[in-house]
Amino acid sequence: MKHLFRLGTALRDQGCPRPVTGVASARIELPAPERSGGMPIMEAFARRRTTRRFASTLLDDATLSNLLWAANGINREPDGGRTAPSVLALHEIDVYAVLACGLYRYDPHRHCLDLGVAIDLRGLTGYQEFVCDAPLDLVYVADLSRMHDIAPSQREPFASASAGAIVENVYLFCAGARLVVAARSWLNRSSLGVEMHLPHDSVAVLAQTVGHFDLSDGAEES
Ligand SMILES: Cc1cc2nc3c(=O)[nH]c(=O)nc-3n(C[C@H](O)[C@H](O)[C@H](O)COP(=O)(O)O)c2cc1C
Repeated sequence: MKHLFRLGTALRDQGCPRPVTGVASARIELPAPERSGGMPIMEAFARRRTTRRFASTLLDDATLSNLLWAANGINREPDGGRTAPSVLALHEIDVYAVLACGLYRYDPHRHCLDLGVAIDLRGLTGYQEFVCDAPLDLVYVADLSRMHDIAPSQREPFASASAGAIVENVYLFCAGARLVVAARSWLNRSSLGVEMHLPHDSVAVLAQTVGHFDLSDGAEES
């Protein structure tokens, strides 16, 4: 296989947890997401792409809110239907936001972020350098204990499909919001699981980095 993931990146030693920057609040309340407007969906498809060049500029709360809602928020009350599909509506994927101010789990019911660990784990979410610089690394964690009705051999493949649907939601949101984004499967799942304090039946399936394009060095976004 070609060294695809090395494009614009450098292999480095496994990242280390770092002290947080800013305040690790127990909960980050998010503003209500915008459920209308934005870029036409066909234009977002036309713009969708992977970019691996991130500025460290933070995402504002409104953007974070819209992004997480687009990823896997609730779009149908009262049954709790989500923006992303999942087998038997098991909603087995939890979205974690790995920020400079700590590790947070997205609660789609309250539409807020709850603190998991007050450590900057961005560098542990992957081996590519940009994971440390970008303001947000999303980690999609499958809770296999929610999948009792699924044959054991099918649980991880189905969870991967669910995570893939979330990944595409985030790609399209980013295309519309003119953010840059990269899906990532190149993770150290075991050390990430330990540092995130994941239970034994939860597994980090995929990650995705989101941010603003790094315009330094006169680079231009393609
Ligand atoms: C399941 C999956 C895993 C991926 N893993 C990585 C990764 O670990 N690192 C990376 O830089 N890109 C990763 N990508 C992004 C692909 O390399 C990218 O989608 C592909 O090169 C096509 O480019 P495009 O998204 O711009 O069309 C992944 C994409 C998918 C769907």
